[in-house]
Amino acid sequence: MANKFLKAEKLFGLIGHPVGHSMSPVMHNDQFERLELPYFYHAFDVAPGELKEAVKGMRSLGFSGFNVTVPHKVEVMQYIDEINEEAQMIGAVNTVVNTNGKWIGYNTDGKGYVESLLSKTGKKLHDYNILVIGAGGAARAVVTSLYRYGVKSLAITNRTISKAEDINKNLKEGPGVEILNKEEAEQKTNHYDLIINTTSIGMAPDINTTPWKTEALKSGCLCSDLIYNPLKTTWLKEAENMGADTLNGVGMFVGQGAVAFELWTGIWPDIERMTDIVLEELGRK
Ligand code: ATR
Repeated sequence: MANKFLKAEKLFGLIGHPVGHSMSPVMHNDQFERLELPYFYHAFDVAPGELKEAVKGMRSLGFSGFNVTVPHKVEVMQYIDEINEEAQMIGAVNTVVNTNGKWIGYNTDGKGYVESLLSKTGKKLHDYNILVIGAGGAARAVVTSLYRYGVKSLAITNRTISKAEDINKNLKEGPGVEILNKEEAEQKTNHYDLIINTTSIGMAPDINTTPWKTEALKSGCLCSDLIYNPLKTTWLKEAENMGADTLNGVGMFVGQGAVAFELWTGIWPDIERMTDIVLEELGRK
């Protein structure tokens, strides 16, 4: 039987290492199929040291765009033609678009996360006092995008305070964010409407560890974990038991994919369908 993708008119891809477990190909290809777009998305395992050649290869092969994941999100910035403002502030690129032969880099992680939050909170997000736990790459994207969106207050707590300070330095305009050590942030737990875990604490296989106490949460607090393996972390379970609202990491994953999809095709995809596909894939793994 003929494979209809032999006729793909546009090619998209993911470059990372490793990429074997990525859910992006099935998520994007399903949307292409549903929208009857003759496009194809494939994951490429690109070893560290091979990135420059890989990007060059994508260009010669006429790719229309690609995603970039760990460990290449920072290095890839050297090999493309332009970087949009938000990606510059975040200091990493996860989506590249071929615009009339020019590679333009974006970061859809933070924007995708804000999209997933908005579907839960609506415009109330503007009135939220928010605490972000962690100051790595994911925190950088989340903090930058929330800051640009505009929230009531934003604080970061991290084991290594200097990394939180670095994130703050990159936020160009406005008052910046508050940097707190763990004790200071813990004392203010009941001040926050939204607490976001961006660290790997609680991720499989260490599923019994938790990033934050749930005893002193503000009533109605939303606890959001960027982890999606497991789908419901011990921290989210504890928060739920304390009466808090929760959000798992699938929202951010789907959100970043949806924003990338829109950049490539001009079409906002079916988020619910993408979420179902990702949940199905996670169930299989
Ligand atoms: P990612 O790109 O997923 O954000 P990362 O850049 O490696 O990953 O960042 C991991 C974050 O989790 C960091 O904020 C890290 O804290 P440090 O900056 O102090 O290293 C945090 N983290 C990971 N394991 C942790 C642990 N056991 N306790 C506290 N923080 C931890």
